[in-house]
Amino acid sequence: MRRILVLGGNGQVGFELQRTLSVLGEIKAPGRTELDLADADAVTHHVQALAPDMIVNAAAYTAVDKAEEEPQLARRLNAELPAQLAKYANDRQIPLVHYSSDYVYPGDGSEAWQEGAETGPSSVYGSTKLAGDQAVQASGCQHLILRTSWVYSARGHNFMKTMLRLARERSALRIVNDQIGAPTPARLIADVTLMALHGLQQGRVDGGLYHLAPRGTTSWHGFAGEIFRLAREAGEPLAVDPSQVAGIPTSEYPTPAVRPLNSRLDVSRIEWALGVCMPDWRSQLALTLGERLEYSQLPGQ
Ligand SMILES: NC(=O)c1ccc[n+]([C@@H]2O[C@H](COP(=O)([O-])OP(=O)(O)OC[C@H]3O[C@@H](n4cnc5c(N)ncnc54)[C@H](OP(=O)(O)O)[C@@H]3O)[C@@H](O)[C@H]2O)c1
Repeated sequence: MRRILVLGGNGQVGFELQRTLSVLGEIKAPGRTELDLADADAVTHHVQALAPDMIVNAAAYTAVDKAEEEPQLARRLNAELPAQLAKYANDRQIPLVHYSSDYVYPGDGSEAWQEGAETGPSSVYGSTKLAGDQAVQASGCQHLILRTSWVYSARGHNFMKTMLRLARERSALRIVNDQIGAPTPARLIADVTLMALHGLQQGRVDGGLYHLAPRGTTSWHGFAGEIFRLAREAGEPLAVDPSQVAGIPTSEYPTPAVRPLNSRLDVSRIEWALGVCMPDWRSQLALTLGERLEYSQLPGQ
């Protein structure tokens, strides 16, 4: 049976990958206590001992604001780790799947970015993610880089869960309305990863860089509004008053890291490659929110 090494298995995407990719082989997903990915030597020893047939790297330094204070750690996780994995994958002739971010783009304009668009990150997180992508591309290994945006899921730390909590606690909220993108559930990323890997193994799908997001776009304010509407429809007791949810510009919500205003990703390349049409972000939110509300009924959640 094939051994698949999934890194970042406790993260949003990694957790879903452990479920989805189990049809391809035996998943090995060391947690942080078993393998600290900041330790390059430990990574080398672990990977060599495991001798995986495939590596899927969903680990990253994803604390965008904190990365401005910890650039070295962000660089280690987001740039050096993928480079290290890509070198191993190339030496052993095994495939590597890696995830990238909309934060690699400059964020100006209003056109959707295509995979060949010029990059221009404006944060430590974005520039370290870009360095990781470039290292994987330069390594010569067989790879898929799936570049996604605004990831959320029923588990983990994310905007949907934060909004649900705030909507229970407060009647009025101010939410940024001039950053535009597509909220992407981790479950969709994992499902598409499986399809793409399958296609890659069968020679139907070329390796390389693909955007991966639902169809349609919104702002954080629009995303929040839909979260509140669906939650209320599902019978959730919310304190928030829809008329008191104000849209504000990014300039009124300063953060240590600069965020792109335009995070629109053109997903036609992956649609052509897989012969699918990406679902709309609203239908994906309804599924993920439903899963969250069910999950939150469980003891301890
Ligand atoms: N989140 C987003 O909005 C977003 C948007 C675009 C692209 N992406 C990309 O999508 C991919 C998956 O993101 P995600 O949202 O699933 O991330 P996540 O939930 O933050 O998970 C990251 C994972 O990396 C692990 N990790 C970080 N540092 C580690 C270390 N030193 N040793 C061991 N494990 C370590 C974390 O372990 P612990 O669980 O122990 O902390 C966690 O399992 C990443 O490549 C990310 O850059 C994310």
